[in-house]
Amino acid sequence: MRLTIRSKLVCSSLLILVVVSFAFTLVHLRLSRSWVEEDLRERAVTFAREIAATIGDRREFESGPLLARQIASILEVRPNVLQLDVLRFGDAGTEVVATSEPRLRLPFTRREVERVRRGEVVSRLVRDGGGRAWEVIAPVTLEGTVAGAVAAKFSLDRADALAARVRWAALGVTAASVAVMGLLMGLVVTLVVTRPLGRFMAAIRRLQAGDTAAAVDVATGDELGVLARHFNAMVARVRDFREELQARIKEATAELEGRYREVERLNERLFALQRSLSHAERLALAGRIMAEVAHELGTPLHSVMGHLELLRQDLPVEGLPDDVRRRLAVIEGELRRMTEIIARLLDLTRRPPGPPELVDVAQVVGQCAEVVRPGATAAGLRLEVSAAPGLPRVRGHAGQLQQAVLNLLTNAIDATPPGGRVRVAAAADGGEVVVEVRDTGAGIPRDRQARIFEPFFSTKDAGRGAGLGLFITTQIVREHGGRLDLESEVGRGSAFRLRLPAAA
Ligand SMILES: Nc1ncnc2c1ncn2[C@@H]1O[C@H](COP(=O)(O)OP(=O)(O)O)[C@@H](O)[C@H]1O
Ligand SMILES: [Mg+2]
Repeated sequence: MRLTIRSKLVCSSLLILVVVSFAFTLVHLRLSRSWVEEDLRERAVTFAREIAATIGDRREFESGPLLARQIASILEVRPNVLQLDVLRFGDAGTEVVATSEPRLRLPFTRREVERVRRGEVVSRLVRDGGGRAWEVIAPVTLEGTVAGAVAAKFSLDRADALAARVRWAALGVTAASVAVMGLLMGLVVTLVVTRPLGRFMAAIRRLQAGDTAAAVDVATGDELGVLARHFNAMVARVRDFREELQARIKEATAELEGRYREVERLNERLFALQRSLSHAERLALAGRIMAEVAHELGTPLHSVMGHLELLRQDLPVEGLPDDVRRRLAVIEGELRRMTEIIARLLDLTRRPPGPPELVDVAQVVGQCAEVVRPGATAAGLRLEVSAAPGLPRVRGHAGQLQQAVLNLLTNAIDATPPGGRVRVAAAADGGEVVVEVRDTGAGIPRDRQARIFEPFFSTKDAGRGAGLGLFITTQIVREHGGRLDLESEVGRGSAFRLRLPAAA
């Protein structure tokens, strides 16, 4: 069972109150009882002395019947005197002169009698079947000597009955006052402690439910008031903190959203770039094939033209039939048209991409890395880029070199499983600038290493690889007067090294 603070306070103070009040009441009762006893003893002594003093001479002392009458009349008016004896100290011992109780003699000891004989008054408290009583013995002095004594027994019954009544009344009053004090204490505890605490509890419950406007309304100057002020200050701090946190979360969320959009945009760009790359690969190949075809057809065409010329010189122009001459003219015309078409084609495909310039390879490498970085990150790869400082430039076309490096990088990313690493580094080596693209991917079996440079060789799904990347890269490198090396180990990875002569 859980006790509330109120019941703990009320119960403990009531307990203290009960113990202390009843202890005080009991001590008080005991003290007053002993004071009453003492008072009654003094009265008994005074009474015995007075009686002793009334016995004025020896004659009176010796007339027993007279004394007996006096005793009887005294006892009539003093009902609390249970017994009254007049004793005489003779040579033979103590003898009773007169008594109210002839059957019983008050049992004073020899020593007590001795003390009385010396003039002292002796008293003692006795308890018998009838209740408590004071027994007093006072000396009777005649002509300067102690001739006898007056012994009296005083009942304490009335005083004891009164004391009992007083005791019950006192205990009742104490009990009632304890009850009243308990009630008042409960009231005070409620007002001073329970109610303010209830307000605290309500505020804490509101705070737990998320209401940061919760405040405690305790305006007292005591500790609870101080506590309430601290509590309210703390709630205000929590509120500020929460608002700040929410603002920060909002900010962070917005930033994250921005970043996410950026990544999305980059991914889209990468995708578009990859698509346009394979489109460019195809276009470039078509051009190269066309150039090849034109070149291959040009030579026999020239030879046919030469033979036709020789034939014309050998044949007599006049002797020819008209339709033969016409047919020869058609052949010549068609051949010339073909030659022209081929010349134009060759002219078109061989057209250089502009005059060569000085290219900063480090910049080319950096740009390529930024293009593929989103794709590498999405594939769970670490992309490392480095360029030795002060690299010499190479003579050529930045766009083409970029295409070559991009081909190598996309291949490396495609070949490397998540968690792997792709590194592109540019460095100088002798009179050459070397761009190395190294991966920790699948590697290329030895028997396949020559074939991957052939056009249309691809191990990738249709739509992902056209098999032209390495072919075009080889062409571009060759056109720049450089070469492409390969070093690969199955299961460990590959390194493609692009070597370009540095510009003088
Ligand atoms: N870094 C590499 N690691 C493993 N295999 C590679 C790597 N680069 C190229 N290859 C292999 O060479 C083939 C040809 O590459 P490529 O000519 O770029 O064509 P594509 O990428 O379209 O397949 C790829 O399909 C792949 O099998
Ligand atoms: Mg490729």
